[in-house]
Amino acid sequence: VVDPLRISVIGTGYLGATHAVCMAELGFEVIGVDVDPGKIKRLTAGEVPFFEPGLEELLRKNLESGRLSFTTSLADAASAADVHFVCVGTPQHPESNSADMRYVDAAVSGLIAGGLRPGSLVVGKSTVPAGTAARLAAWLSEQAPGVELAWNPEFLREGFAVDDTLRPDRLVFGVAPGGNAEATLHRVYASVIAAGTPVVTVDYPTAELVKVAANAFLATKISFINAMAEVCEVTGADVTHLSKAISYDTRIGGRFLHAGLGFGGGCLPKDIRAFQARATELGAGQAVAFLAEVDAINLRRRTRTVTLATEALGGDVTGKKVAVLGAAFKPNSDDIRDSPALAVADTLRKAGATVAVYDPAAIPNAQRAYPEIIYADNAVDAATGAHIVLHLTEWTEFRELAPNALTAVVAARTIIDGRNTLNPAQWRAAGWTYHALGRP
Ligand code: UDX
Repeated sequence: VVDPLRISVIGTGYLGATHAVCMAELGFEVIGVDVDPGKIKRLTAGEVPFFEPGLEELLRKNLESGRLSFTTSLADAASAADVHFVCVGTPQHPESNSADMRYVDAAVSGLIAGGLRPGSLVVGKSTVPAGTAARLAAWLSEQAPGVELAWNPEFLREGFAVDDTLRPDRLVFGVAPGGNAEATLHRVYASVIAAGTPVVTVDYPTAELVKVAANAFLATKISFINAMAEVCEVTGADVTHLSKAISYDTRIGGRFLHAGLGFGGGCLPKDIRAFQARATELGAGQAVAFLAEVDAINLRRRTRTVTLATEALGGDVTGKKVAVLGAAFKPNSDDIRDSPALAVADTLRKAGATVAVYDPAAIPNAQRAYPEIIYADNAVDAATGAHIVLHLTEWTEFRELAPNALTAVVAARTIIDGRNTLNPAQWRAAGWTYHALGRP
């Protein structure tokens, strides 16, 4: 690998687009690749095709510097770069709980066909089942001799993607013994490492597992507190106070201990399912059997919210109008993959309610996925004529919403706070019946 390093990033979704822009920001010449010509056109024009705070400014800056370009041709990337980051999706397989590896395999085979240069490095970033890196390394050594493979899992959170990429908590390098991969990765991340980021260098299966283990732990922490919320509901306890009280134990900590409608998104749900599927294939299914319960607890929060709304509407939602605040799987994102908010909204719609949804960023995506739902331009429009308001994604805008802004337009003053971020006293003072998850 020669100086200066030239980098390609394959896949320009939430992960890849951010990675390409941040690598250019670090000073490298970067080419981003995607099969979707629409995405490439928008990125080339300086437009980020999804909602990610801070990314668009950085994209434009690096396009202007001439360091960053985009293409739909994997062959261009294969010949233009020395280090190739694979950032394509590994969604849940349509027919099973396993990860669908077709995009990763297509990226690698496209790079091989495009003529990878000997001495170049392919770096996997996608979340994959254990054993994938070894399989791809064997494939490369057969089809592209002299090309190395490394696994460098990505832990970025949507909404904080730029910061998480430029200032990560840690870097994990999965490499094979011998070879130059570790040294090359140290060159790629030199300035990030110089800023004090710890590096953990491991073998391939450990690198693959670090990612799924981290996500399994986070999902478990959320489902733990949501399980406590279920117990709070039958004892009259308040899960928000319980969570706060246990969080002062530094061994427990307060992050990811927020009870509510539970987790969604493109990572946690499918990752815990794929982890179970892979562990089962390898004969260690029992070790992660508890993740089935983590998944079940998470999905029960959605059912509970539907039940609470149905009860509040007198046992039948037919002909009732339901206003839903939030569509994205979490705030500061337009991502609706496995969104708990939309799952609840759509269940109520199917049960006969008229459902109107408002979200500050995710409506275009929601509209494509759930065309039967009604979409409003703001919270007041969504709530107009509503018999119940459901707060299902905790955007700051909703926390700051004055109850009186809705009081005049609703047909009944009932709100379910599915995220435990509204102020119950404020809503009750305005004459509302306030329900929450895990609170009396
Ligand atoms: C997650 C991981 O955090 C990240 O490290 C990994 O690389 C990809 O998956 P992301 O999907 O962007 O990132 O979302 P995150 O911010 O982790 O939130 C996940 C879900 O958990 C959201 O639906 C959120 O609403 C929910 N959540 C989070 C809770 O319900 N309670 C909490 O206390 C925290």
